[in-house]
Amino acid sequence: MNPDDGLRCPVCRLALRLQTQQARPARLGCEAGHGFDAAKQGYFNLLAGKGTNFKEDGAQMVAARASFLDAGHYESLAEALGRRVRTALRGLEDPRILDAGAGTGYYLRQVLEALPEVSAASAVAVDISRYAMRRAAKVPHTLALVWDLWRELPLEDESFDALLNIFSPHNGAEFARVLRPGGTALVVTPLPGHLAEGAELLGLLGIAADKAAGVVASMGDGFALSATEEVRIPLVLGQEAAFELAMMGPAGHHLDPGALRDRLAEAGGTTLITAAFRIQEFRRIP
Ligand SMILES: C[S@@+](CC[C@H](N)C(=O)[O-])C[C@H]1O[C@@H](n2cnc3c(N)ncnc32)[C@H](O)[C@@H]1O
Ligand SMILES: [Zn+2]
Repeated sequence: MNPDDGLRCPVCRLALRLQTQQARPARLGCEAGHGFDAAKQGYFNLLAGKGTNFKEDGAQMVAARASFLDAGHYESLAEALGRRVRTALRGLEDPRILDAGAGTGYYLRQVLEALPEVSAASAVAVDISRYAMRRAAKVPHTLALVWDLWRELPLEDESFDALLNIFSPHNGAEFARVLRPGGTALVVTPLPGHLAEGAELLGLLGIAADKAAGVVASMGDGFALSATEEVRIPLVLGQEAAFELAMMGPAGHHLDPGALRDRLAEAGGTTLITAAFRIQEFRRIP
């Protein structure tokens, strides 16, 4: 399988083919002459020239997320996802994985590494943030695309075996279109009470309502819920990690970093918080 299998032109829907230079991704182009050059960090911005209403995660938010995740605080969530993807893809020779709303690509990297034969697998990471895709482009076997999940995805019908959708928008109709029948979608959302003890100190947005039923509704008729798992992670965070945790989430769009640092310094010591997630596993039904 080629890394560009399953990609289609967002303008005319013909296949997009990857051209490389010195083994690095250089350009995606279709036979009708539409083309997208790789950014120097290796990702492709297919949204170039299109306006979008969504505010991308900025450089500081993405840097905070990368540093927090790379420190391993959410490793047990990554492991749980890895186990599920490994089971779902068992027996497939060259599995394809889509990470919709991939952020820095941390979970995708971990999931790929959990496969018995990672070199046979290939992945596409999609996110609206250019800063996130700069990092996701470094994940082995992965093409990183800047795109808006609320638009028709630049991907062929039934071209993926598994889909990850972690704290990101769920476009059930498009997810159903690009996943093959029998394919697996893993959707991760926060449980009620996620990070609740630290919400005030960290300036987090309101405590999340229970999203389980909403996820099932937004995945739509193309999916059947096949399993649910809860992952709770007690965190003991120093000031820097607590700062990153606050900055990497949706509150990072609004927080004043200086004021947050002052609050954390004043509180002193370590912050004890419980992260609480729900993984919902869906099967694509024909
Ligand atoms: C909370 S982050 C989660 C990222 C990653 N899955 C993780 O867990 O580290 C949400 C991600 O969704 C992306 N996002 C938000 N709206 C989007 C949209 N309309 N299309 C594509 N990505 C979007 C953001 O840029 C951000 O990277
Ligand atoms: Zn085209």
